[in-house]
Amino acid sequence: MSQKVIDLLNAARARELAAISQYLIQHYELEDKDFGKLGKKMKEIGIQEMKHAEALAERILFLKGTPTLKPEAAAKKGQEIAAMLTSNIALESQAIKMYNEAAGTCAQEKDQISKQLFEKLLGEEEDHLNFFENTKEHLAELGTVYLASLTGE
Ligand SMILES: [Fe+2]
Ligand SMILES: [Fe+2]
Repeated sequence: MSQKVIDLLNAARARELAAISQYLIQHYELEDKDFGKLGKKMKEIGIQEMKHAEALAERILFLKGTPTLKPEAAAKKGQEIAAMLTSNIALESQAIKMYNEAAGTCAQEKDQISKQLFEKLLGEEEDHLNFFENTKEHLAELGTVYLASLTGE
């Protein structure tokens, strides 16, 4: 068992815990401002991050480590939609870089299962990044017309 791999899994878990609170805060802030459609999407992504945090904890426990309960960073509150998207793009881009490197280290440490876990998470983080980037582009191009399409249930 590699302590290096356990540390990487825990660093990833701390990132996931930060993403969960970030996206769930955005979910209820958006709902409160009647941007229900975008809010719902934030909730969906937040729940995917919960599954990531849980999968990482299970792997850490299997390797006889202790899953961290500490988010890597505090969630941002009260951001405008464009700023939310910029924060989320940064969060996902950093995760993608980190998980790519982690998958490489797992291969060096001959831990294929942890490597596959990082690769699985990578695919989903790429989808999240894509969604946030597209939304940010639509907002920049279409402005209030696009904002109107994000309101309601
Ligand atoms: Fe994630
Ligand atoms: Fe993500």
